[in-house]
Amino acid sequence: MKHLLSMKDVTPHMITELFHKASRFKQGVVGWDADRKFAANIFLEPSTRTKNSFYIAEKKLGMDVIDVNGAESSLTKGESLRDTIKTLESIGVELVVLRQAEEGILQELSKDLSLSIINAGDGTGEHPTQCLLDLFTIAEEFKSFAGLKVAIAGDIKHSRVARSNARALRMLGADVSFTAPSIWQDPALSNEYISMDEAAAESDVLMLLRVQHERHCQEAFSGNYLETYGLTKRREASMKKRSIILHPAPVNRGVEIDSSLVECPRSRIFSQMANGVNIRMAVIQTLLEEAVLHVHQN
Ligand code: CP
Repeated sequence: MKHLLSMKDVTPHMITELFHKASRFKQGVVGWDADRKFAANIFLEPSTRTKNSFYIAEKKLGMDVIDVNGAESSLTKGESLRDTIKTLESIGVELVVLRQAEEGILQELSKDLSLSIINAGDGTGEHPTQCLLDLFTIAEEFKSFAGLKVAIAGDIKHSRVARSNARALRMLGADVSFTAPSIWQDPALSNEYISMDEAAAESDVLMLLRVQHERHCQEAFSGNYLETYGLTKRREASMKKRSIILHPAPVNRGVEIDSSLVECPRSRIFSQMANGVNIRMAVIQTLLEEAVLHVHQN
């Protein structure tokens, strides 16, 4: 794997290998050093978790890290994103972590590069490392994905997290359903839609999505979102004993979830964030090791 752009790039075997590496990082075993390798983090959309956990993952691996601030870069002078990345490659950067608003441009952007690119979120496209950390968090709780009932709830239409997770969970054998207001359903995804009451009561994993106000044009939800599509205390009380709650965050407290449930015993929201560092270390190690292998083979 040269780049990580989409969960389409990832097989079940690769996921197992990444989990193995992430578990070792979680146990404090490093045993691998990317000393003197440069990473550049380009975040052209806002981020707290992804940007900072990539920074920590890179530093823990011994990398030198450049933060490319879009507003202070030559992107503002009209340089293309491809030319910006080629520039970073020319001056010695080996890994670019990229968040930007346009979906569907990454294949072209990453063509014929010697550095590796990790997609840290491309508009409404995909968010593969969020997906991998979600899967890792689920795997810590359940023996197998096969037959696991996962409900993804909320703003499906604008969610790159829903897209990556629905694809990967299906590939791993989970039974994935959606719940969403009709304005935020996505006909391009073929999953069954169920009510939020069913989602809460029947799923092993209830994955809540953020309402993405910044991506809405005309599709504002009218009414009480929490009562209709959110996780209320009543719905949480109906969940199965071992069921867990995920949310990629940031959380709109009192919208997707009752504020008092964000840190409830079945919530894994902050575990997801902690796991994000280990999963990102595992992804970076895998890409950089394969880049070295590629250089030796040529
Ligand atoms: N989950 C996630 O991508 O959060 P950030 O937007 O803060 O990176």
